[in-house]
Amino acid sequence: MFVSSRRVKKWQFVHLFATCFLLSLMFFWDPLDNHIMSHVKSYSYRYLINSYSFVNDSLSLRHNLEGAASFQYLINHEEKCRAQDVLLLLFVKTSPENRYRRDAIRKTWGNDRYVRSQLNANIKTLFALGSPNNPQKSERERLQHELFLEDQEYNDLIQQNFTDTFYNLTLKLLLQFRWVNMHCAHAKFVMSADDDIFIHMPNLIEYLRSLEQIGVQDFWVGRVHRGSPPVRDKNSKYYVPYEMYHWPSYPDYTAGAAYVISSDVAAKVYEASQTLNSSLYIDDVFMGLCANKMNIVPQHHVFFSGEGKAPYHPCIFEKMITSHGHLQDLQYLWKAATDYKVKTISKSFLGHIYCRMVKILLLCKPKYVDTYPCKAAFY
Ligand SMILES: *[C@@H]1O[C@H](CO)[C@@H](O)[C@H](O)[C@H]1NC(C)=O
Ligand SMILES: *[C@@H]1O[C@H](CO)[C@@H](O)[C@H](O)[C@H]1NC(C)=O
Ligand SMILES: *[C@@H]1O[C@H](CO)[C@@H](O)[C@H](O)[C@H]1NC(C)=O
Ligand SMILES: *[C@@H]1O[C@H](CO)[C@@H](O)[C@H](O)[C@H]1NC(C)=O
Repeated sequence: MFVSSRRVKKWQFVHLFATCFLLSLMFFWDPLDNHIMSHVKSYSYRYLINSYSFVNDSLSLRHNLEGAASFQYLINHEEKCRAQDVLLLLFVKTSPENRYRRDAIRKTWGNDRYVRSQLNANIKTLFALGSPNNPQKSERERLQHELFLEDQEYNDLIQQNFTDTFYNLTLKLLLQFRWVNMHCAHAKFVMSADDDIFIHMPNLIEYLRSLEQIGVQDFWVGRVHRGSPPVRDKNSKYYVPYEMYHWPSYPDYTAGAAYVISSDVAAKVYEASQTLNSSLYIDDVFMGLCANKMNIVPQHHVFFSGEGKAPYHPCIFEKMITSHGHLQDLQYLWKAATDYKVKTISKSFLGHIYCRMVKILLLCKPKYVDTYPCKAAFY
């Protein structure tokens, strides 16, 4: 295609102008620092952060601390990923005391054998965790002993010797990426998920297969947070001081509850994680910084849910990938959502119209519920 030089110059000018405008917005409107302004600022700043790479400079390590940052394995399964045709390595982030959740996942969406026999795909599910965090030593030892027994039975825990706490989530992220890099670099896709979510494995596998066929690269999908500002309120769990991160917005990132990356992204993020200061304890934001450094941009998928539970309806089950906040109802939902009838519900002309109506009613409510967006009704 022929592009005139005048046109290129015009575009460069617009680019420069937008940049200056946004910079002035940020520096001169500082006194107007209320909630709405901080969102306006962060959203405009997002453009800068995603198109230039200066964030990584400020967060770069002065010296590489890889040695100090890598914790010893208490439980490991180096052999887990030996098979050559692994479609998906699935990491579930869990904590020592969440045995009940792990057992529910083993019986439902995290069941490798089900996926192999019913969906004819090779996935490997591993639970990533740190060491018990109880104040009493005896209690810690008891929990650790139970973990050893649990692992003898299932062979699916990967544990490192850092205390399993909220503020150590980035260490858990590093554990996952290091493990992928060392022992499972050949898996086509890697997923990281919380232990309180639901994953519609048949739909996910179908989706990943279609991606595999077109040979995706630089692929990162999930529920994308765009231009979110750091929380500066000291009482919040997500409080981040200026010294830790001084820009008004984070680069785009996917919610840590569930995201999928292609294996080349896993390698790149791992590489970046070696050079960035990992004291930022919000793990999904840290992941966003690593990806930003490697020029990887996340994609939004409408059927990766937000904080809320997806509505229970066969027309939703037909398309859903993840849903958040499932503890008691996991087995019920698994049964209902993977029922073979679900796949045929909208195949007929009338079924199609029926499901469209149902989805509009369930997803396009005036009151905002953080599940799937209204536009998911039209997919
Ligand atoms: C920041 O990222 C860019 C590419 O995205 C890279 O060229 C540059 O070297 C990085 N800076 C540092 C200090 O790592
Ligand atoms: C784990 O680390 C703690 C200190 O952080 C140490 O006391 C303990 O011995 C370590 N456990 C193992 C099994 O290495
Ligand atoms: C993270 O884990 C390390 C190693 O066990 C521990 O020393 C540290 O206190 C933990 N950090 C937090 C904030 O829990
Ligand atoms: C990482 O950043 C923190 C501030 O958030 C700082 O205290 C620490 O010294 C930095 N670490 C390195 C190795 O640069």
